[in-house]
Amino acid sequence: MISQQSIQQLLSRIDIIDIVGSFVNLKKRGANYLGLCPFHNEKSPSFTVSPSKEIYKCFGCGKSGNSIGFLMEHEKYSYVESLRWLAQKYNVELEETETTPEQKQKVQTSESLFIINNFARDFFADALFNTEEGQDNGLSYLKERGFREDIIKKFEIGYDPQSGHAFADAAKDAKYDEELLLQTGLVVNRYDKLQDNYRERIIFPIHNQSGKVMGFGARVLSSNTKAPKYINTPENEVYSKSKILYGTYFARQAIDKADECLLVEGYTDVVSLHQAGIENVVASGGTSLTPDQLRLIKKYTKNLTIIYDGDSAGINAALRGLNLAIEEGLYVQLLLIPDKEDPDSYVNKIGTTAFREFVQNEKKDFVIFQLEVALSQAGNDSTRKMEIVNEVADTISRINKTEEFTRRQDYIKTVAQKLKIDEEGFNNLVNKLIRDKIFKDQTKTERQSFDESTLEPEDKQQEEFDLLVNDDSKYERGLIRVLLEYGLKPWNEEITVADYLIKEIEENELDKMMQEELLTSIYLIYKKMYHKDEHPVTKHFLYHPDEKISALVVKAMGIPLEISPNWDTHYDGKILKPEDMYKEEVSSTLQYLKLKKLKQLILENQQLLETATKADDQLLYMQTHQHLKAIEKAITKNLGMVIVKL
Ligand code: UTP
Ligand code: MN
Repeated sequence: MISQQSIQQLLSRIDIIDIVGSFVNLKKRGANYLGLCPFHNEKSPSFTVSPSKEIYKCFGCGKSGNSIGFLMEHEKYSYVESLRWLAQKYNVELEETETTPEQKQKVQTSESLFIINNFARDFFADALFNTEEGQDNGLSYLKERGFREDIIKKFEIGYDPQSGHAFADAAKDAKYDEELLLQTGLVVNRYDKLQDNYRERIIFPIHNQSGKVMGFGARVLSSNTKAPKYINTPENEVYSKSKILYGTYFARQAIDKADECLLVEGYTDVVSLHQAGIENVVASGGTSLTPDQLRLIKKYTKNLTIIYDGDSAGINAALRGLNLAIEEGLYVQLLLIPDKEDPDSYVNKIGTTAFREFVQNEKKDFVIFQLEVALSQAGNDSTRKMEIVNEVADTISRINKTEEFTRRQDYIKTVAQKLKIDEEGFNNLVNKLIRDKIFKDQTKTERQSFDESTLEPEDKQQEEFDLLVNDDSKYERGLIRVLLEYGLKPWNEEITVADYLIKEIEENELDKMMQEELLTSIYLIYKKMYHKDEHPVTKHFLYHPDEKISALVVKAMGIPLEISPNWDTHYDGKILKPEDMYKEEVSSTLQYLKLKKLKQLILENQQLLETATKADDQLLYMQTHQHLKAIEKAITKNLGMVIVKL
């Protein structure tokens, strides 16, 4: 663990222009710096870095973050790796904190496993290239399959000799701990002696994202043996099957460039495609994708193209996990390799250019693919067809983020056409499922659910619109943003913006209605620091050790486009001077949240009205309703002119 103090010391020294500038050519433009975005291909620069806010944002692809986030995104470093990179650049010594014995043990175990894996990788590579047996048995096999030497070396492929104890002996000679050796899975204890677990096999090292060897896949040479085709590293401190994808280390830059990740099943598929110059490819090992693996892919791209062998048994299992991918916002396409080929054999058969074209032309959108398969299986069974309509509506309803609106509508159109059903009706079905889901989530968080029928038709439309189009968290983030950005500025002669906001938030219990828990945490930390006179500034949160907090703050801060608003800048009836414009932002942000709160109150009141039995009560609730509606109207009207700003 690196001590907080030295992290703070390091962070006070860094300069985002300098850091991003090491990778991107930046030019000064006004208060900001501008360059070509390193995360997507563009001809005119929309990648903006703000030195004062210490964040970057690309207006083309939307990526944004702080200095550390940049290193994590661009170099695919972990948080700690980024810190170490910065420490080296700025010549700051990082001080390690005291760790508990268990933590120390864990770190030590991981480090030792990595060291042994390195040793093993070198041993196997040496055995492949520099021993007679390796050349005759291993290298000739690989060459027969068409693998070039440069590719074999790049992937650090190796060979474990026939003798069955060559590696175990070397490891013992090198004085590696027996217990740790067993944990790597490289050796087993047989007849009270350490023996090689991968004897007479081709060894594929499996690298993590920064190139360290986490484990191995070991393939048999002969096909006429009962032994399993591959033996893989068992789960241990550094190897967790569900979290890795073979090839990420070699593919990461190509995936960034192509903005697409190809997913195949096997080690040899990855290596062959690389050899053919197709480098944006990783392998899952033939099992269905786990949430961790999906997240790993999402770090690089949103476009996932899954390539299957035609006769693969794994396809159904793999398809099952894919609704999750849709929910995560990935764009999933599928591609089937024909005949009994796999990507490895197929690219060897038809060549690079044809393979590329094949991928480009034949890949099919996952949702549409699933639909077509289901339809062809259903034949004339109309009950089954009805089910399919519901299934595909369910899949599409998982695309429910505000920014995915167009994508969802496109699906609805295409699917309705394919199913030969009414588009509007299908649209309604999908929207209903989305609403059901949102309400289910709300009840889960113990919010009051309500009966739609109590709403007037106009309200109902408004509600629907809100649910589909409005992203409430945007306004909540806005509140945190104005608090962080303007909190310490004066609100009037007596109090600061923070005083004002805290008072308003507490009085209206706005903190209790925030949907993002983290926002509430940020608010609470801010309040505590503020009351202790600790001057909470953005930087404190921007580089908060909890990555989730810093990511959220980056998202909330944004870099405002430098367009000067030309509407009248009134607030509280006074004309604002440009330097006081922030007050209007504070004020409108607050109004939005109050409006939201009001909507909630209106719903609650409606429920009370619905269940009230006494005439007196009914009257009271009706009056309350009118009163609340009047306030709502006033705020909405007030907000109308600034709505574009948020
Ligand atoms: P394949 O049988 O398709 O192997 O399994 P492959 O990679 O194409 O290898 P070649 O071309 O026959 O040499 C696909 C993947 O499934 C995992 C491996 O990750 C393999 O690459 N697998 C397969 C195992 O883990 N164990 C096995 O016994 C078989
Ligand atoms: Mn194969």
